[in-house]
Amino acid sequence: MAAARQGGAPAAEALSDASAPATAEADTSVTASADTSADTAGATRRVAQGAPVPPSPQPNADGTALTTTASGLIDTSNAFFTPMGNGRSCASCHAENSGWSVTPNRLQQRFAVSAGADPVFRPVDGANSPNAPVATLDQKRVAYSMLLTKGLIRVGQAMPANAEFSLVRTDDPYGYASAKELSLFRRPLPSTNLKFVSTLMWDARETRTVAAGTAGASCILNANPALCYATVDSGLLTQASDAVRGHAEAARELTAAEQRAIVNFEAGLVTAQSTSATAGSLTDAGATGGPAALSAQAFYFGINDLEAGDYRTRATFNRNAMSMFGAWRNLDAPPRPAPGQRPPAQPAQATAQNVARASIARGEQLFNNRPFTINRVAGFTDQLRVPNRVTCSSCHSAPNAGSHSTPLLVDIGVADARFRTPDMPLYTLRNNVTGETVDTTDPGLALQTGRWRDIGRMKVPTLRGLAARAPYFHNGSQGDLAGVVRFYDRRFQIGLTQQEVADLSAFLRAL
Ligand code: HEC
Ligand code: HEC
Repeated sequence: MAAARQGGAPAAEALSDASAPATAEADTSVTASADTSADTAGATRRVAQGAPVPPSPQPNADGTALTTTASGLIDTSNAFFTPMGNGRSCASCHAENSGWSVTPNRLQQRFAVSAGADPVFRPVDGANSPNAPVATLDQKRVAYSMLLTKGLIRVGQAMPANAEFSLVRTDDPYGYASAKELSLFRRPLPSTNLKFVSTLMWDARETRTVAAGTAGASCILNANPALCYATVDSGLLTQASDAVRGHAEAARELTAAEQRAIVNFEAGLVTAQSTSATAGSLTDAGATGGPAALSAQAFYFGINDLEAGDYRTRATFNRNAMSMFGAWRNLDAPPRPAPGQRPPAQPAQATAQNVARASIARGEQLFNNRPFTINRVAGFTDQLRVPNRVTCSSCHSAPNAGSHSTPLLVDIGVADARFRTPDMPLYTLRNNVTGETVDTTDPGLALQTGRWRDIGRMKVPTLRGLAARAPYFHNGSQGDLAGVVRFYDRRFQIGLTQQEVADLSAFLRAL
């Protein structure tokens, strides 16, 4: 856990790419919206706020992503799209064309089109420091650099009272962070596929524990003492209010009806990649990618749980969590001759499309079955009663969603000092009892619980609609999905071949 991070790990490894993001996105929607005014929803959608519209395929670097809803329409009159307080709406940071998050490319376009006036660019948490000067366009470009280059929002969190550790050093390139408010630069988690979520926010701060027996509470099986959580729905209601007061600096609370409407809206969204530039339709030839199959996918608290098995069926944990592309296996292999027939002298060449499909299918198999050993992963290796020999699906275990069906927050090392890039603040925390210190760019769960052993722990995010919302990890440190795979490969010395890296990232791009 945190203590072990002081020594041990290979130090000089540069896993994260400092110059990260700015992936090339095939972007038509934003150019088309060039004439929209300062309306934030309008800047991210081609339609005016107010009209219910059918979702349309949204282009990204790897093909298109598609959102579905129960009604078949996206109701842009919902309060989700209503500008509040400082002019922002939820859609300012959760945009359909960006996988219901934001991407640097489209933010740069919004900046250019609005000369920095789009309401996403607000000092409170859009700027690197709320005190940064933003009078001129050049000043704005500097002040909003984290948002423009990596799509990062500044989440301000105070040191908790009675923490087991103290903040002994703050190295903030923007001269703002302090124990009163640490600046944590984080990616907006997508406001879609929420039906697969057990934990809200990177650090679970909107996921409340409640007493056993509380109505609607979900409890960890066989936990002693009891460990129960309030419903995700109740967390979403509070989250919506907090977002309006915080991000949108609204002077009033949302009404209960507005809260309810927003949560009903976002909880009804289902998003997935639907076509691939190389593999074509992700629902073709027996594959079950895309949002339609995802919206029919079962999920409940404890489904396919790693530790206790499935809470409802009592089946043991099934590491084959992803099962969409099995029909595409071996599509690139030459067809086998029928029994008694001789193989042709020249086997037929697989089409480029079938080669791409077979790669996605291999990636799915690797995700489910390629074992590797994890070490010093706080929240996992020190707490779960399971072996440290894992697959990707050990943590990303919710079937065909890739989230974790019970709150699991683990430190895979993304915020470690050794991966710090100069644009990130660095915090030195000292254990009040042992005097030991840890350098981190984001203490994660520890800022909520005050516990030393929780430093760096983040929630396991859902893995659908990924291609629409680069860059990745809470701090946007990986510009593309191959970078994510290489991060795991080096962090845990998995020993993936180049082909395996290509296959795994092809699979992630097809989610
Ligand atoms: C200024 C940008 C911004 C605005 C505006 C904004 N959000 Fe967010 N949202 C974020 C960020 C950043 C996170 C992740 C923060 C964290 O985990 O610390 C997030 C997280 C979330 C999550 C958590 C998803 C998950 O998987 O845990 C939900 C749900 C959400 N936002 C909904 C909303 C709603 C609803 C509104 C409008 C009332 C809204 N957001 C407005 C930036 C924004
Ligand atoms: C020990 C648990 C664990 C294992 C094993 C694991 N992950 Fe993760 N994964 C996480 C956590 C936690 C995060 C968020 C980390 C952060 O941002 O700080 C994450 C983030 C990701 C993301 C980025 C998602 C986003 O929205 O930015 C991808 C992609 C991903 N993992 C893929 C994989 C793949 C592929 C494997 C197997 C090679 C794997 N994971 C194995 C826990 C795990």
